[in-house]
Amino acid sequence: MQGDKYRYDRTTPRVPTARPGKQLAAGQLPSGSLIVWDTEILAKPVSSDAPSGMISLTRRGSIMRPVLHLVGCGTRPTEDLPDFAAELRIADWEPHIIASPVGRRFVDTDHAAGCSGQPVRWDLDPDDPVSLPKAHCVAVAPATFNTITKLAAGIADTLALAVTAEAVGARLPVVVVPWMNSSLANHPQYDRAMRTLREWGVQLLPADQSQSFPWALLRERLDQVRTELVHAS
Ligand SMILES: Cc1cc2nc3c(=O)[nH]c(=O)nc-3n(C[C@H](O)[C@H](O)[C@H](O)COP(=O)(O)O)c2cc1C
Repeated sequence: MQGDKYRYDRTTPRVPTARPGKQLAAGQLPSGSLIVWDTEILAKPVSSDAPSGMISLTRRGSIMRPVLHLVGCGTRPTEDLPDFAAELRIADWEPHIIASPVGRRFVDTDHAAGCSGQPVRWDLDPDDPVSLPKAHCVAVAPATFNTITKLAAGIADTLALAVTAEAVGARLPVVVVPWMNSSLANHPQYDRAMRTLREWGVQLLPADQSQSFPWALLRERLDQVRTELVHAS
């Protein structure tokens, strides 16, 4: 998996990066390694003289336990995302909760980490390197007006948007559950964004704020995605 590993590039790191030639133990990220991914987010390829084993924490797991990037935005149902992640974990997904910066305010991160078995991630911070396995699927639930319109405009200025944009570009299954009031849903830009996302193959689930958030519907959709992933493997 070395070939498709990437790291976030900064010209003036505050802390030393791993030096070419320095070997790191398996599973060890170099201290001050900035942001290290096994995806292509906001990144360029690690140079060929990068130390081997540098990014061994990142990997894509077995299709029998697919990796799900579970993105929660700045709205109330994000409070329930950890419990949903716990449910998915029991159903043999490997969920990683990624909150938008406002979404982070709705998540009890300790509880969420206990539920998903993974730390909650919420932003690109060079002083706090992020390591994530490559996703088999991304679910944005709940998805705000802000995130939906930005995603459709190709904006990836938060970790939540970056992982989702990358999944769209990689033609991975992306499931979005919009959650907003009718005024925002009637904004002309929203209609355009929804059409764009549909054209791109993003799966949009219906939701209605006069009812509770459709976690069961999302769960059904993810079960189908999982079956499709297994059959395609
Ligand atoms: C308590 C609260 C509830 C909110 N509910 C919604 C909502 O249901 N839908 C929505 O689109 N925005 C909602 N917002 C506004 C978003 O949080 C705001 O637009 C934010 O910039 C979204 O950022 P994000 O898309 O990166 O999560 C809410 C904000 C607060 C403080």
